[in-house]
Amino acid sequence: MKEHASTDYPLQGGHARLECMQCHIPKGKDTLYKVKFERCTDCHADRHANQFAAAPYFNACDQCHNLEGYKPSTFTLAKHKKTRFALTGGHIAVTCAECHKESAEFKPKPSVIYHWKTLDCTSCHNDPHKGQFNERMAQLRADKTPAGCEVCHSTKSWKELSAFDHSKTKFPLLGAHRATACIDCHKPPNLETKLINVDFKTAPMQCEDCHEDIHGKQFVTKGDATPCADCHNSAKWKPSLFDHEKRTTFPLRGAHQNVKCADCHKLNKTVADKTVLFYKPTPKDCAACHGANIPVAGSKKSGL
Ligand code: HEC
Ligand code: HEC
Ligand code: HEC
Ligand code: HEC
Ligand code: HEC
Ligand code: HEC
Ligand code: HEC
Ligand code: HEC
Ligand code: HEC
Ligand code: HEC
Ligand code: HEC
Repeated sequence: MKEHASTDYPLQGGHARLECMQCHIPKGKDTLYKVKFERCTDCHADRHANQFAAAPYFNACDQCHNLEGYKPSTFTLAKHKKTRFALTGGHIAVTCAECHKESAEFKPKPSVIYHWKTLDCTSCHNDPHKGQFNERMAQLRADKTPAGCEVCHSTKSWKELSAFDHSKTKFPLLGAHRATACIDCHKPPNLETKLINVDFKTAPMQCEDCHEDIHGKQFVTKGDATPCADCHNSAKWKPSLFDHEKRTTFPLRGAHQNVKCADCHKLNKTVADKTVLFYKPTPKDCAACHGANIPVAGSKKSGL
């Protein structure tokens, strides 16, 4: 063995543990001692079904293995960063073998897979959404490929959905709705509790479908419903967008301009055990509010 060190092929690592005849196949005096050794493949058959035959590897086993043994390979996470698929987020904690599984697609022998036809999430993950997002996933990225699951997901975690742009749905999230949890609007069906079970297309779109009418139906206009959007947007309920000038026959001008709503609107009624402020009827007649001493309209003080 020591003598072998003086040949051009010193026996190192695992090779030092071999029998002479594993390399010098015994054929009596025809035993070959000038064995080719430039490349590992001079003696080793490829074990990866030609997946590393092309550049940059050209089947050079020593790019990923040393003589100490095949496992572990010298292909580190740092090298993985330089592939087309850097391991990020939740993938960092995944073991090599969970992704690189043996596949029977390789003939004649099954082999561990290192290259996929596409690197889309669906190469490895099933769609748990029963196809409901197919249309949305067909949206193209800047590079003209379909965005797929990444319309919503990243590798961080399945619950992290910051990639999802709600403004591309029929219902952009504005005002207070931007801070509202998905599940508060997208309700799972009976007996289910998780967002994953939601049919996202069934979310109602009218304010009054989600928000209780606190006005005791005094503003009902269409059928049995009150269109909240006539007087509110999703920024905040108070103050309302109600325009006294346009929507009543009693414009608030001059001295009335700065009078508090509550100084004229005091009519409380009980509706379904709750106290509700009713805006009508409110008298329009000066005397109904001011009594006999009606302030003079047009006086300097009143400005009416
Ligand atoms: C891992 C494979 C391997 C093993 C194991 C191995 N050899 Fe070699 N051996 C080679 C190679 C490759 C050469 C060719 C070196 C060269 O061409 O200079 C060689 C060359 C030789 C030579 C010729 C040296 C010369 O200068 O012509 C002898 C003799 C030899 N080996 C004997 C042995 C003996 C004895 C053992 C067991 C103790 C052994 N080898 C184990 C690969 C091996
Ligand atoms: C001259 C022939 C020859 C060359 C060249 C050669 N090997 Fe080997 N090697 C063998 C033989 C024979 C075995 C034992 C049978 C087997 O495991 O395939 C072996 C075994 C191994 C083992 C397993 C050792 C163990 O402990 O089980 C590793 C790892 C290995 N070789 C790596 C390499 C790498 C990497 C290269 C290229 C840098 C290389 N070999 C080049 C002949 C060679
Ligand atoms: C681009 C990197 C790369 C190249 C090139 C490469 N391998 Fe591997 N090989 C790996 C990785 C990664 C493993 C898995 C190691 C592990 O499981 O720890 C592996 C595993 C192996 C195993 C063990 C398989 C098993 O199931 O026990 C053998 C044998 C092997 N390679 C041989 C080779 C041979 C021979 C070559 C050259 C023809 C080669 N490899 C080229 C990356 C590579
Ligand atoms: C989450 C899945 C995942 C995990 C975990 C993972 N890989 Fe990969 N790996 C991939 C994908 C996808 C590719 C394909 C990249 C490509 O096609 O360019 C790849 C490519 C490779 C390649 C081929 C590199 C090349 O340039 O052709 C090797 C070797 C490899 N991985 C080894 C490993 C090793 C070793 C580990 C564990 C330390 C590991 N991988 C963990 C998904 C994974
Ligand atoms: C090469 C196969 C492969 C590809 C491609 C792939 N993944 Fe994975 N991913 C896995 C494996 C294997 C796991 C670990 C097992 C599991 O959780 O399913 C995993 C785990 C995850 C996790 C962590 C799950 C958890 O519970 O922590 C997330 C998140 C994830 N993948 C998202 C993605 C996204 C998003 C894409 C597309 C950009 C993607 N993956 C592409 C194989 C892959
Ligand atoms: C339109 C957005 C959207 C798209 C596109 C989308 N998902 Fe999801 N995904 C979600 C939502 C929302 C959840 C629930 C998150 C939660 O529970 O907090 C989810 C959850 C998941 C989960 C976790 C499942 C569980 O049981 O908790 C997985 C796995 C997943 N998605 C995979 C995918 C895959 C694979 C694709 C591509 C085929 C995809 N998703 C496309 C929105 C999307
Ligand atoms: C304030 C209520 C509200 C909140 C909060 C909300 N959504 Fe929506 N979402 C809607 C409404 C309403 C629609 C329109 C439904 C339709 O298209 O018929 C919608 C549409 C969607 C759609 C599109 C369905 C489709 O295929 O066209 C997805 C996906 C979705 N929401 C996911 C989410 C996710 C994920 C979150 C949390 C990050 C979220 N939504 C937060 C109300 C909300
Ligand atoms: C799909 C259901 C849904 C629809 C449709 C919807 N909202 Fe909301 N909205 C919510 C949920 C859930 C919240 C958060 C919980 C809460 O405050 O009620 C919220 C919160 C709000 C808030 C903040 C409440 C606070 O106390 O900070 C306002 C204001 C609001 N919505 C107004 C509107 C208006 C106006 C419309 C119609 C343009 C509308 N919403 C349509 C579900 C909906
Ligand atoms: C005709 C106009 C009008 C319509 C329609 C209307 N509101 Fe209002 N709403 C008001 C006014 C006026 C106020 C009082 C605002 C203030 O005090 O600044 C108000 C106040 C509120 C408040 C705040 C109550 C408080 O005291 O904090 C809520 C909540 C509210 N509305 C919900 C709704 C909902 C839900 C709908 C639809 C079902 C709706 N509104 C429809 C005019 C309207
Ligand atoms: C100076 C007295 C006065 C003040 C101040 C006043 N209102 Fe009125 N408001 C009236 C009168 C009178 C009517 C009844 C008009 C009618 O019957 O056509 C009315 C009607 C209304 C209505 C009923 C509209 C409808 O179509 O049913 C609403 C809502 C209303 N006011 C909201 C407000 C709000 C909000 C404020 C404070 C920003 C306010 N008002 C301030 C006198 C006032
Ligand atoms: C629904 C009740 C209501 C009606 C109707 C009403 N007012 Fe007023 N008015 C008020 C209230 C409340 C104030 C503020 C408190 C105050 O100064 O008495 C006010 C203030 C005024 C002022 C300012 C007084 C001051 O001292 O600065 C004038 C002027 C005035 N009203 C004139 C009129 C005239 C003219 C009419 C009939 C066209 C009228 N108001 C109808 C409730 C009403």
